[in-house]
Amino acid sequence: MVVVAILAAGRGTRMKSNLPKVLHSLGGKSLVERVIETVQPLSPSRQMVIVGYQAEEVKAAMLAIPDLEFVEQSVQLGTGHAIQQLLPYLEGYSGDLLILNGDVPLLRTETLQNLLRIHQEKQNAATILTAYLSNPKGYGRVFCDDHSIVQQIVEEKDCTPAQRQNCCINAGVYCFRWQELAKVLPHLQANNAQREYYLTDAVTQVSPVMAVNVEDYQEILGINDRLQLASAYEILQRRIKEKWMVAGVTIIDPASTTIDDTVELQPDVIIEPQTHLRGNTIIKTGSRIGPGSLIENSQIGENVTVMYSVVTDSIVQVGSRIGPYAHLRGHTEVGSKCRVGNFVELKNTKLGEHTNVAHLSYLGDSTTGKQVNIGAGTITANYDGVKKHQTKIGDRTKTGSNSVLVAPITLGNDVYVAAGSTITEDVPDGCLVIARQRQVVKPEWQQKGTGE
Ligand code: UD1
Ligand code: CA
Repeated sequence: MVVVAILAAGRGTRMKSNLPKVLHSLGGKSLVERVIETVQPLSPSRQMVIVGYQAEEVKAAMLAIPDLEFVEQSVQLGTGHAIQQLLPYLEGYSGDLLILNGDVPLLRTETLQNLLRIHQEKQNAATILTAYLSNPKGYGRVFCDDHSIVQQIVEEKDCTPAQRQNCCINAGVYCFRWQELAKVLPHLQANNAQREYYLTDAVTQVSPVMAVNVEDYQEILGINDRLQLASAYEILQRRIKEKWMVAGVTIIDPASTTIDDTVELQPDVIIEPQTHLRGNTIIKTGSRIGPGSLIENSQIGENVTVMYSVVTDSIVQVGSRIGPYAHLRGHTEVGSKCRVGNFVELKNTKLGEHTNVAHLSYLGDSTTGKQVNIGAGTITANYDGVKKHQTKIGDRTKTGSNSVLVAPITLGNDVYVAAGSTITEDVPDGCLVIARQRQVVKPEWQQKGTGE
């Protein structure tokens, strides 16, 4: 049985931010959310998050995550002090406590499983995760004997110059037999450079304590400042892109492409350079996205192309072509085999199959039937200054260039709208509608003396 505790009470001074450090976003999820996601597959019996600095904000940000218990550390006197706050909550508990810093977002579940397994097999009082870093700056240094038994952990600020040379670092991930930790916690002292109660001091007051070295040192990167946040993002991106390339996705220029880990891609998707895929986006097989596109919380069907365009909260069905320079948003649904072209914005609009909106249009709050042709510069005037209104366009209807459809309005099937018309009343099936001034040509105008 294991209880998990996540340390998330610190301010994160080195971030130089008003936002608590653990709420900083890494690829669409906060640091602490990522830590929680890593521990969830271990099915812990309890998940306790220690909050303090801006506790209400931190709690609110995690409201959607089930089964969390929040424990308040109202003043932040160090990582050891943070764990002291658990004493009343875990009275009588006799299992293991897995402790993680809330700022170690790249850990893998397998690494934790391995740590727990060794901890239990060896019946250690504590087992801690360590790594060898060529640049160990900022981390606590771990001193072990030849059998990986931990002798001492010294924070960098407390290190002698010789101790600082040790490249074996404390990752901030610990597994304790709770009963033994509980005995030493009340006796921690703050006699160190930072005047804090260190959890690392508790580690060396129980015995035996074993160090387990992590295979991939990138996993344990702790985020203390924005440089480390950017390094973590780079590592995360590399992991995500490698996963999709192995799964059959072509990423032409990984360096200029970013993909959230919530995105799903099917084999034979091609991602062109300067493309960014975010949120709950799914892209189906055979589609080509980019160059220069942003797709967010959208579903893209098979064999779609999206070029130099922005698609958010929308659906594009099989075989449609989007862009260059189109913007789909607000729950737009583009049917199959449509074309949405240059400088077209669609908002909360549903296009039936084989419909074209090829140039310079805005369609908002509208639906079209199938095989509709929206002429260049057609605009739905959907907003009267107070409310948004609907436009309905029937099958095979064609709007002429520069027509304005003043909503609410319905055009039937097979309607023709003459170029330059401003349509304010519904048009029945099969009609031609012209709503503009007849052209007047006045001959010999110049001779009357108005011109030069
Ligand atoms: C800590 C370790 C260090 C280790 C490093 C790994 C200690 C004393 N040092 O140092 O050995 O190499 O992590 O990343 O533990 N927190 C609280 N309450 C507090 C103080 C901190 O909840 O009173 C939380 C923070 O929000 C953070 C975590 O504990 O999530 C770690 O705190 P941080 O100040 O970043 O510790 P480090 O100096 O990085
Ligand atoms: Ca840290």
